[in-house]
Amino acid sequence: MSSFDPNLLPYFNPSVERRVCLITGGNSGLGYYTVLHLYLHGYVVYLAGRSQQRVQNAIELLKKEAAARRTKYTHAQLGKRFLGSLHLLQIDLLSLDSVEQAAKEFRQKEKCLHLLVLNAGIMAVPYGTTVDRFEVQLQTSYVSHFLLTDRLLGLMTSVESDEQDPRIIFVSSVGHWFAPFHFSLDYQFDYFPNIIFTLFRYGMAKCAGIHFVKSLARRHPSVLAVAVHPGIVLNTNLFSHLTHLPLIGTLFWVFFQIFDWLLGVSNEEGSYASVRCALSDGVDRPADNGKYYTTFGLEMTPSPVANNTVYADETWAWTVRQLDDRGHTIETL
Ligand SMILES: NC(=O)c1ccc[n+]([C@@H]2O[C@H](COP(=O)([O-])OP(=O)(O)OC[C@H]3O[C@@H](n4cnc5c(N)ncnc54)[C@H](OP(=O)(O)O)[C@@H]3O)[C@@H](O)[C@H]2O)c1
Repeated sequence: MSSFDPNLLPYFNPSVERRVCLITGGNSGLGYYTVLHLYLHGYVVYLAGRSQQRVQNAIELLKKEAAARRTKYTHAQLGKRFLGSLHLLQIDLLSLDSVEQAAKEFRQKEKCLHLLVLNAGIMAVPYGTTVDRFEVQLQTSYVSHFLLTDRLLGLMTSVESDEQDPRIIFVSSVGHWFAPFHFSLDYQFDYFPNIIFTLFRYGMAKCAGIHFVKSLARRHPSVLAVAVHPGIVLNTNLFSHLTHLPLIGTLFWVFFQIFDWLLGVSNEEGSYASVRCALSDGVDRPADNGKYYTTFGLEMTPSPVANNTVYADETWAWTVRQLDDRGHTIETL
């Protein structure tokens, strides 16, 4: 168990320095706790989600949870620890048009972006393609986040701050090891049985995200870009598809509970890798740009495939070409 303590990370006073974060998938699971800590540390946080209702409900709960935690602060701590604010941003990562619309709306609302947390994802779902003709896991976790980053990077590179540099965190997974040794985003892995090949598709999406931050670090060194594996966190909605399968779903549920008991961390602990990379002065440019961090924010080497810069370049070129073919020309990246 790590001795990581989020209360030791820097606090920002939003009335002196307004620091803005956009996070995808902040309404549940690990993302929820990432938002909680950023909010408690003074960040203005935009929760970008597809369900207005779920995001609004999460915002209400987050406000209550933050207020409860602040009752435990001492008088001196209350004078130094400032609450930020929470806002809804509508986005559906399964649609590139929705990503464009969300980015446009955000640019109208904010002049700067200090922190972009690319957290949303889905896992182990059946093979399917989006309206934009990408595999669903690939678009949710990776392609839409690539486009979103392109549309918002201008707000990050224009940040003038004597505090921390702007940061991008891609929430990857240890599952990136499932990406095949000969890597190409052209592989669809639409084979039977889904239970095996869906993991290959998940692995490809999460590996592409690590390639993405490695390329970002080289191409845009003024922004700190890192990837994280949050930990094994089996009580989030990520596993819902498997645990709701008829009959075998119960077996999955039992297996996950045992696995969780042996190796898992709580939902809140699962947020710590992102929270540390977002707030810590110990993660910094240029030394840490493009790195991969695991549970509790410990540095780790990703798989050889994820670490391969030739593959990273190919992933980048593939994504730019595919987005261009669909009328979403990359402008900034
Ligand atoms: N849990 C783990 O053990 C684990 C391990 C490694 C990596 N991760 C990664 O950690 C991240 C968070 O996962 P989690 O475990 O916290 O799962 P979760 O509770 O299911 O959270 C996923 C979030 O992504 C959002 N999302 C999914 N599809 C979306 C879409 N089309 N548009 C916008 N938002 C969408 C979900 O929104 P809705 O509520 O609207 O569905 C939800 O807020 C994921 O990227 C996952 O791959 C998790």
